[in-house]
Amino acid sequence: MSVEPHLTWWKNVVIYQVYPRSFADGNGDGVGDLPGLIGRLDYLKALGVSALWLSPVYPSPMCDAGYDICDYTGIDPLFGSLADLDQLVSQAHNRGLKVLMDFVPNHTSDQHPWFVESRASRDNPKRDWYIWRDQPNNWRASIDGGSAWTWDEGSQQYYLHFFLPQQPDLNWHNPQVVEAMHNVLRFWLDRGVDGFRIDVVHCVGKDPSFADDPRCLAGETMVQINDQPYSHEVLRGLRRLVDRYPGDRVLIGEVNIRSTARVAAYYGASDELHMSFNFPPLDAPWDPVVFRLCIREVERCLGEQQAWPTWALSNHDNSRIRSRYGGSRAKAHAAAVMLLSLRGTPFIFQGDELALEDTQVTAQTRVDPGGRDGSRAPLPWTAQPPHGWTGKTPWLPFPPDAAALAVQAQENANDSTLNLYRRLLRCRQDSPALRVGDWTELPSHPQLLAYRRHCEEDERIVCINFDEAEHTFALVGDWLIEVASDRHGENRPFAGIVGPLQAVLLRPTGVAHER
Ligand code: NOJ
Repeated sequence: MSVEPHLTWWKNVVIYQVYPRSFADGNGDGVGDLPGLIGRLDYLKALGVSALWLSPVYPSPMCDAGYDICDYTGIDPLFGSLADLDQLVSQAHNRGLKVLMDFVPNHTSDQHPWFVESRASRDNPKRDWYIWRDQPNNWRASIDGGSAWTWDEGSQQYYLHFFLPQQPDLNWHNPQVVEAMHNVLRFWLDRGVDGFRIDVVHCVGKDPSFADDPRCLAGETMVQINDQPYSHEVLRGLRRLVDRYPGDRVLIGEVNIRSTARVAAYYGASDELHMSFNFPPLDAPWDPVVFRLCIREVERCLGEQQAWPTWALSNHDNSRIRSRYGGSRAKAHAAAVMLLSLRGTPFIFQGDELALEDTQVTAQTRVDPGGRDGSRAPLPWTAQPPHGWTGKTPWLPFPPDAAALAVQAQENANDSTLNLYRRLLRCRQDSPALRVGDWTELPSHPQLLAYRRHCEEDERIVCINFDEAEHTFALVGDWLIEVASDRHGENRPFAGIVGPLQAVLLRPTGVAHER
């Protein structure tokens, strides 16, 4: 098809989130690492994704699984070396895969030399690199839900942290901090990385008056509500820097405010984020009404300003897709059809392509102080234990049904989740309508969600049945079922019925399949 408008790469791809400590273990110490990931790049290529986002691999005391960084330009020995990272970038690029790093600007580790200096004395030159006050206010931190202020006995003041006390917040009002963090970006861009996922970027600007949160927000943590104009100024600076590099480097922000309208503001006037995560669909229960509203809201808020949406239904902080929908594989399959056919750039969290469920941890095996271990379990590669993790027992228990859900077990199984993801990604690759076309909702039974994707002569229709009963879906014209989430009726003419918990991707009959 030659109709495709020229588009920057990040609008045209599906991005895969790698959680390195659970992806693949190269040295047998029970923790996934960069050599392990390099060894599995062909798996990702065969899956059909085009870019990887790597959760943090920097040196860290690991109080928050690497989101507490003590050296922004190094690699923690747990994951390998800088040479391994260079190797990853070049091996990925050789396969046509882009690599995005995780950039964590809001806070460092309390072990970072900057903070060690800052807390050393009130007149230390780095004192103002962090946020120190004589009195705390009522702001609440995430992860442990405690106060966002911790008393420092040595220097007799409180420091601010929106997350754990081991994660002090940087003071982005200090120009030296801005310069130091810009240098961090330059360091990785110069090494050839294709962009960044930016951790809680809406948190970097703080209310300069440090006013108490009003009582109506009592119990909310700052990450859910912090929304200050200064964060936008910081972002414009990051964007200017990144735009000076060739190759369409990209900034994808984690804006954790549960309002799509507020999220849209972080795209600025095309001078802030290229894309932002938007969490309402990730929180949504299995309910067509909720999804319909979430999607309409994205189309309305982002459409108005021509901002390009992202779609993510899970990540390392939340339950896996299948667990959120009550363990149902049928629902997880239907959700995959939706995730990979909406307008925008989809993100697959590692292991969702295997329909993994959250792992169960006990008091003995629990690692994360925030109780988020469930979705972080190691990927099972082979059916036989230890599932491709030879050596030490992995750092978290495998997810349920690891043998049946292992990559090896799903690879050649006709009705496997892995096979469904591969088919969907191939169809997406073949269809400009799916990748970059516009989105229009179609009238349907209330238990169905139906929409049309369209780009010049190319067109697809998607219909998702949220119900356990089948429903009719009338369409004008002749349509072929290109993908069915349960394989039922696939490659046959669509007869106007969508089965229980089934999702179908339809193409007009008569359009030759290009592959
Ligand atoms: C969001 C990250 O996704 C999460 O894992 C982390 O705990 C917080 N930001 C703090 O960095």
